[in-house]
Amino acid sequence: MQSVIGVFAVVLVLVGVCDWGRSLVVAAAACGKYGLFQDACFVHDESVTLDYSDGLLDQQYAALVNRTDLEAWFEQEVQWAKERIQANIIVQAGVSVVVASPSKVAPDYYYQWVRDSAMTMLTFNDWRDELGDTAMGVLEGYLRNVYLLQRVDNLSGDFADNGANLGEPKFLVDNSPFNEPWGRPQNDGPPLRLISSLKILNDTEYGGALQQAFDTICLPDLNFVLDHWQDEHFDLWEEVRGQHFFTSMVQLYSIDKTIRFLQETELQTADALKLQLQTVRNNLQQFVGAQFASIREGIVVETPSNLGDRPSGLDIAVVLASLLVHPIDESTDGLPFDIDARELLETFHRLVQEMRDLYPINAGLHDLSGVALGRYPEDVYDGVGISEANPWFLCTAVGANLMYRLVTLYDDKKSDLVIPLNNSGIWQRFVALDTEIRVSHKEVVIPYHSQAFNKTLGNIFNFGDSFLSVIQSHVSDDGEMSEQFNKYTGYLTGASHLTWSYCEFLNAIKARDAAKSIL
Ligand code: NOJ
Ligand code: NOJ
Repeated sequence: MQSVIGVFAVVLVLVGVCDWGRSLVVAAAACGKYGLFQDACFVHDESVTLDYSDGLLDQQYAALVNRTDLEAWFEQEVQWAKERIQANIIVQAGVSVVVASPSKVAPDYYYQWVRDSAMTMLTFNDWRDELGDTAMGVLEGYLRNVYLLQRVDNLSGDFADNGANLGEPKFLVDNSPFNEPWGRPQNDGPPLRLISSLKILNDTEYGGALQQAFDTICLPDLNFVLDHWQDEHFDLWEEVRGQHFFTSMVQLYSIDKTIRFLQETELQTADALKLQLQTVRNNLQQFVGAQFASIREGIVVETPSNLGDRPSGLDIAVVLASLLVHPIDESTDGLPFDIDARELLETFHRLVQEMRDLYPINAGLHDLSGVALGRYPEDVYDGVGISEANPWFLCTAVGANLMYRLVTLYDDKKSDLVIPLNNSGIWQRFVALDTEIRVSHKEVVIPYHSQAFNKTLGNIFNFGDSFLSVIQSHVSDDGEMSEQFNKYTGYLTGASHLTWSYCEFLNAIKARDAAKSIL
């Protein structure tokens, strides 16, 4: 391992990086030269160019951001978000590093977080066609980054000690370990990294190199999930030690995805591993089903052991988890808490209600409109330190995403909409009253493709748009999304140009495009 890193360091020194500020052109050494993946060289390992200098970044924004026309703003912001994400990715010597934010002080987010990077690559993977070889260079560079970071010993542990180091949440941008106190381990990192690695491998032709890629990149994270799914760890917000819905859900999904990947690719897998995968998959699914939805009437609780400190039990992480585990372009039907699960929608409904009152900037919004959303009601992180929490761009985008996804899901199901009356919170916003609706003492039934059905889906879609229009109001004049926006003034606050904010915005737009095409 030492030699891999040693050679890697030499390569970093030798490689020239031109004009950091604008276009980033880096000649990547052939992977064989510095020992990554030994002889199983990836196909796309030539030079990677992340050239975002032709786009909006060069123009004057103040005049550009359209705050009145939603569709026109989408077009601008999509372009802007893609460019900003690319600006936050450094490709050096064939290794991609996703910087969480360019902000180096107040707060210092100039690091790579395992979680943020994996989420970014899931979004980035959608641009394969658009960006061609550049996309492939970045994606494969990410796989090399995964390989490298997995083998960096750190304060969570040593790689040689059965991969004890893999729960480490963040690293310096030069891939060296972060040696300060932090909420570690964060056990959502390995499964998220596994999910994004599998997705990249799945969508690429690797032929004979696939087995080695799986063994060297996927297996370490997979084994970590299998060995540690029952362990306590810090949550995705890096604050609470315990068992968390978000982590358990991504662990479950990563195992399920691996099982499907192995079946489809027919890679060699030891029988013992196959058996273990099935066993843990079943146990985890049972655990998720039993643990998080029964503790509070009607909702899913992110961290059941933490209800003392956070009595609302509400957290947008729950929605984030469901959207991630049930992606629009993959069938994960067997996994629990799909986006239309009753407890999930109720959790979201209550979050919207609470946050409407919590953040003064929501006061002017119509009762039926989407609102600015933050992480959880009891939050006190203001983006730099501890005071009063604000709404977050990524959380607000997640609200929109959920609504668009519901539209697509209900249309796909091709069945009547059945709304239980004892859990109709969110539905009161949507249901288009009409004579076709059948109401009994316990449920409302809206027949599939009736006018009322179509109108109801239209209302859900518009509710989604109303979250994005909150974002439209609060991006900066030059289209920037930071981490948070001030709950009194709406102005950007916290880490500037947060990569994850742009990703969740783009994820929402992807879901919106799909929903729009069926309405
Ligand atoms: C405290 C925040 O609450 C947490 O979510 C964040 O990750 C760290 N500070 C790092 O800035
Ligand atoms: C704070 C968030 O709480 C955490 O989820 C994220 O990974 C880091 N910031 C970096 O963006």
